[in-house]
Amino acid sequence: MSLSISIILPTYNERQNLPILVERLEKVLVGRDFEVLVMDDNSPDETWLLARELSETRPWLRSIRRLANRGLSPAVIDGFKAAEGDILLVMDADLQHDENVIPKFIEAFENGAELVVGSRKVDGGGVENWSMVRRFVSWTATQMAHLVLPRTVTDPMSGFFAVRREFFQNISEEINPKGFKILLEIAARAKGRVIREVGFTFRGRIYGESKLSAKVMTQYLQALYELSFGKFIPLRFVKYGIVGASGVVVNLGGLKLGKELFALSSSQATAFGIEISVITNFVLNNSWTFRDAKLSGVRGLALGLASFHVVCLAGALINFAIATYLRNKGLSNDYFADLFGIVVATIWNYIVNTRATWRTRGS
Ligand code: GDD
Ligand code: MN
Repeated sequence: MSLSISIILPTYNERQNLPILVERLEKVLVGRDFEVLVMDDNSPDETWLLARELSETRPWLRSIRRLANRGLSPAVIDGFKAAEGDILLVMDADLQHDENVIPKFIEAFENGAELVVGSRKVDGGGVENWSMVRRFVSWTATQMAHLVLPRTVTDPMSGFFAVRREFFQNISEEINPKGFKILLEIAARAKGRVIREVGFTFRGRIYGESKLSAKVMTQYLQALYELSFGKFIPLRFVKYGIVGASGVVVNLGGLKLGKELFALSSSQATAFGIEISVITNFVLNNSWTFRDAKLSGVRGLALGLASFHVVCLAGALINFAIATYLRNKGLSNDYFADLFGIVVATIWNYIVNTRATWRTRGS
């Protein structure tokens, strides 16, 4: 039984590397049933055009120029969807991934594997001249990934892996394609699947530059959270809670400011502190917690701010009612009673703000 293989090459400004890689792939795969898909995000250096030219004499090569939804993971997912092989393999197009181990990938699939990961952490694997800092960052990220992944994946950040088409199609709708952590998304859903690893040496880059940025790392951390605790407590709620906590600080600061700078009475200063914190909470939630449903324009902001006020006021009443109720029921610790009220009010505020103020789909 021989399996056909589709090689997906995500590219962004890889004009110098692509022709070299295409030639090397042709040598490694000769005699097999294969295709190569270049998934280019409309690179300024016109990698997509070069790929198209290369494909003129190579029927197994396809160049896909993507104009929307830029990013490594979405490009890979699109490639997987457009590919026709039994095996869907992705590798970097910058010559850092060793094409010579691809036959080992295919062999693993022929022996029943459903996910095969090119790993720097097993026999035959390694990295070429990495600094201590980069090694440490990579090590930390790997340890964190083990919170959500089977231990059998020693290199969960690898961008060099392959999946059986049937397995991918099964989970493709669940995958959240953002940033660089595509393998993480797939491996987290590989329970009960046969996983194999193939060692390879991650080479240094010679031409062009890396696109791995701070934003990519943040997205990675978010994905880890969403795949673990996020099942119980949404990340958005955690952000909402952090903003809420910042509001307490602003509230107290406002009180001090009102008293000392504006010479307000104690109750006026308290009201001032509350109002200031409601406004800063609204601004922070709008630009961070609910960034994907951000309100803008005078009308949108005014309506949102009004709605946020109403919800917060109702929350305060709930908080007050619960604390009072618990005290009347004989709970002697005031702080405990209030804390309980705060927790319930926060959850209530969160749910209503999510539905009414920002109108997300409850996610
Ligand atoms: N289509 C598309 N869109 N391709 C992209 C994009 C994008 O937004 N960003 C990067 N690429 C392509 C690059 O052109 C390259 O072929 C490949 O994806 C990897 O990008 P690099 O920028 O070279 O990544 P890296 O070498 O820093 O990171 C590699 O190692 C990491 C682990 O250390 C990648 O393999 C990562 O996936 C991996 O996590
Ligand atoms: Mn690279």
